[in-house]
Amino acid sequence: MKNIKKRFFGYCRAICCYFYSLVQSLRGLPAMTPIEVKIIKDVLSSFKKEKIRILEWGGGRSTLYFAKYLRSLGIDFEWCSIENSKQWRDVVQEKLDKNNLGDKVKLFLFEFIPFWMKPGWDFGNPNPKGFGPQEKNEKDYISYPSSLGIKFDIIIVDARFRRRCLIEAQKILAPEGIVILHDAQKEHYHSPLNSYKFGKFFDSGYLYSHGVRSRNKIWIGSKEDHK
Ligand SMILES: C[S@@+](CC[C@H](N)C(=O)[O-])C[C@H]1O[C@@H](n2cnc3c(N)ncnc32)[C@H](O)[C@@H]1O
Repeated sequence: MKNIKKRFFGYCRAICCYFYSLVQSLRGLPAMTPIEVKIIKDVLSSFKKEKIRILEWGGGRSTLYFAKYLRSLGIDFEWCSIENSKQWRDVVQEKLDKNNLGDKVKLFLFEFIPFWMKPGWDFGNPNPKGFGPQEKNEKDYISYPSSLGIKFDIIIVDARFRRRCLIEAQKILAPEGIVILHDAQKEHYHSPLNSYKFGKFFDSGYLYSHGVRSRNKIWIGSKEDHK
């Protein structure tokens, strides 16, 4: 009886999570908690420059949402987003084009299958050995932004190979730039964080995604103290 009850509530919770993320998606909100959205908006609007440059590993609704936000504030910007799924890139590109943001936001595709489709991966062991970047496209996905010759003011890490991206981000971060790690509650992302001079975790509330509820954190790091 106890097991049936537990299963029943488990299913209910999964359905609620799916429903919540569907509503988020229909409202065009990023796959982030409201606190995370607020923090990123605050970071974006805190840069007092003629033009701000943003890099994002792992685009989606966030790309469109924050680009529209910057435009609504009249802030000039250049947004580069790195993607590994062609199908997802096409979805995001279409939304950007529909909103006349194709010239402000550039999507760069380096196609490879995500880790969860690789043989040997399972939920119980989210960080197995031998899952580092091996193919050319996997390596280019990480290193391509360095070849653009741009120093980025804001770098958002929210997709594949997060540890490698966090290491790479240091090379292309403007001196006063800020790095944001999404899903920072996951300990296996933490090893590169100490190499940043400043960094702080923020509790960012519950995220409902793919039928799962997670208690999220976001990490903000920089080379300079922003106070
Ligand atoms: C966690 S998502 C990034 C979400 C984005 N930053 C946002 O807040 O909307 C990271 C990656 O998941 C993959 N992804 C997310 N939704 C997908 C979908 N519906 N189909 C295929 N790939 C998807 C994409 O490859 C993307 O780079």
